[in-house]
Amino acid sequence: MPSDDRRLQAANPTGWFEDLYAEAEAGTASVPWDVPHPQQHLVEWAHEAPDGQGRSALVVGCGYGRDSEFLASLGYDVTAFDISPTAVAAVRRRHPQSKVRYVVADLLNPPAEWHRAFDLVVENMTVQALPVSLHAEAIEKVASLVGSTLLVLAVARDEGPEPDGPPWPLTPSEIKAFATDGLSTRRVHRDESRWLAEFGRQLAMN
Ligand SMILES: C[S@@+](CC[C@H](N)C(=O)[O-])C[C@H]1O[C@@H](n2cnc3c(N)ncnc32)[C@H](O)[C@@H]1O
Repeated sequence: MPSDDRRLQAANPTGWFEDLYAEAEAGTASVPWDVPHPQQHLVEWAHEAPDGQGRSALVVGCGYGRDSEFLASLGYDVTAFDISPTAVAAVRRRHPQSKVRYVVADLLNPPAEWHRAFDLVVENMTVQALPVSLHAEAIEKVASLVGSTLLVLAVARDEGPEPDGPPWPLTPSEIKAFATDGLSTRRVHRDESRWLAEFGRQLAMN
């Protein structure tokens, strides 16, 4: 990515997404994560538990909806959000018959009623799209939305100096940090350059 673009993104850590989606609408830019299939690790994870009937799911930073539409096809009752109004308008237009509730919302300031509200939360490459200085806050917010299961999909890097993002891939200690606010780690898998990490909340016994 050209260094001028990087400087602009560092100065406006969440606003540049809207600019990019608006440019894509105008046909003057392409969105790198605009791919027609769900994330492969999500598909593999879902093989083990393919039935979403009766379960709610929240997709963080949903972009054009590849993961949210996939979860809806498994029967999950899906809410998906993105900070970019243009992305949300585009995903609604692309999927006019969708059962997914697409919402404009900011992960760093999520609606209060979403607190621990979703059986499954899927976070795919949103935290890594934010500067490292925002990772701890974003990770804590993601964890706060989880009722039962959290799936984190991200590009991996080792501990060490900050890369010249975006993206800013997640380190082992950042992956560990999702196990907060009552969540515990179920499994962490690093496949070459990617993380698939699952966390769970024990349900309170009556
Ligand atoms: C790298 S893209 C990944 C999109 C999608 N998860 C996928 O895999 O196709 C990151 C997405 O997160 C959204 N995003 C960035 N910051 C956000 C925030 N604070 N709250 C909600 N969405 C955010 C961006 O607009 C963008 O759509």
